[in-house]
Amino acid sequence: MQTTLSIIKPDAVQKGYTEDICTRIKESGLKIISKRQVLLSSEQAEGFYDEHKGKPFFEALINFMTSGPVQVQILEGLDAISKYRSLMGNTNPKKAKPGTLRHDFAEAIDANAVHGSDSLESAAREIAYFFPEH
Ligand code: CMP
Repeated sequence: MQTTLSIIKPDAVQKGYTEDICTRIKESGLKIISKRQVLLSSEQAEGFYDEHKGKPFFEALINFMTSGPVQVQILEGLDAISKYRSLMGNTNPKKAKPGTLRHDFAEAIDANAVHGSDSLESAAREIAYFFPEH
């Protein structure tokens, strides 16, 4: 069993896709064991995406992630980290396969509907970042 952090990003929340995405997550066999809606401050978004600091898209990423509410979630299940990354699809929605969340709910790499942890180490860090009580 693993846990992973999922974020439903401002574009998907604003377009009303939150429930549809939650349904897809549950249908994939993953359980949403905690969820919370938050409006991120710049400091929170910068801390979360610290590894991308200095990259050309960093400022746009922070502006986007603070542009509206997000839903942060802890997902639990067998191989949850890789299972959720498969469900999300390619970071670039234009390269994502039909049936993946990014193909079906997003159009552009900078507003790609969802985030999921990419390793055991990042899952632990990211879950603690938003759910310190977990
Ligand atoms: P995410 O999985 O949340 O991690 C970092 C985010 O930066 C990524 O999804 C994309 O939404 C965003 N991003 C914007 N431009 C790029 C890019 N050129 N390469 C990778 N990620 C990008």
